[in-house]
Amino acid sequence: MSPVYQATASAPVNIAVIKYWGKRDTKLILPTNSSLSVTLDQDHLRSTTTSRADASFERDQLWLNGKEDEIKPGSRLATCISEMKRLRKEVVEDKNLAEPKISQYNVHIASYNNFPTAAGLASSASGFAALVASLAHLYALPVSPSTLSLIARQGSGSACRSLFGGFVAWQMGSDAAGTDSLAVQVAPQEHWPQMQALICVVSDDKKGTSSTSGMQRTVETSPLLQHRIKYVVPERMERISKAILERDFDTFATITMADSNQFHAVALDTEPPIFYMNDVSRAIIALIVEYNRLSIANGGGYKAAYTYDAGPNAVIYALEENIKEIAQLIVSYFPQKPGEFKDVLGLFGAGAADVNVH
Ligand code: DP6
Repeated sequence: MSPVYQATASAPVNIAVIKYWGKRDTKLILPTNSSLSVTLDQDHLRSTTTSRADASFERDQLWLNGKEDEIKPGSRLATCISEMKRLRKEVVEDKNLAEPKISQYNVHIASYNNFPTAAGLASSASGFAALVASLAHLYALPVSPSTLSLIARQGSGSACRSLFGGFVAWQMGSDAAGTDSLAVQVAPQEHWPQMQALICVVSDDKKGTSSTSGMQRTVETSPLLQHRIKYVVPERMERISKAILERDFDTFATITMADSNQFHAVALDTEPPIFYMNDVSRAIIALIVEYNRLSIANGGGYKAAYTYDAGPNAVIYALEENIKEIAQLIVSYFPQKPGEFKDVLGLFGAGAADVNVH
């Protein structure tokens, strides 16, 4: 019987606290600014991908949530697969580290998300991270997560950060070929295990303007983005990394909320403007602002930090000791009404979970 070449990997979503929004190279997916995120360590928000290579396969094929998805030539998916085959050749086969030459075989890939796709919950991030991780496992590649992040990045920018657990920076790099635009871990989850994320699903509809087209329009039309890239993000990256290393929640929270606000401001500064948040999103912001104000007035510090991606759903970062109170607060202010405030998805331990391969 001939051997079976198959591997499964799963990767969690990550939620940025310094947002990636804008590309300087759309083909290689090189960003206009560095970004930083927290990888959510939970079973609920993951992509799980199985890849199989076989000499009998006539072409590369992909099934997403059980449905076949065409792999268009030149697409991001095709790029990721061919880059992984190239890496296999480069680091394994050309060095005669293993036989046979399975980089020449076609692959069949099946991927599942256990949460709504494209609802502003970063499904492309976990999806491409899991794809690259499963192919790395299939090809037995002895390479670091940062090296794999270079390839996941070409699937979807934010995916490069899901190759690590904990607190992760995507360094924008300066090389035109993108060799230094990769993810690095700022701190593992165990460094600050009290950090939690509460995800409030305001709507699980597919979003109106995709991140890819939205951010390109912002690059082309927003003067505010140029200010953000040059004067705001570099300093915030430094300060929030330091805050994470020092477990300084006040600074972490202030920067996280300010950066979410500025990301939505550049979306609004785009021509035509893009609106990702809705009335419920804005009401949650008002609630968190008031909650923090009361805590500070009583001599405490910040207790919660909201952030929103390209959709209306809120992600609230808070320390474990406060997360239950915040969840109760949200549920009491936003009783569940169909079509309105959909669900408080649950409590999510933030970091941990380096991509699981099994
Ligand atoms: C708002 O990574 O989905 O979530 O690179 O075009 O696939 P592409 O975009 P994508 O954009 C994510 C944007 C964001 C911010 C972030 O995750 O940093």
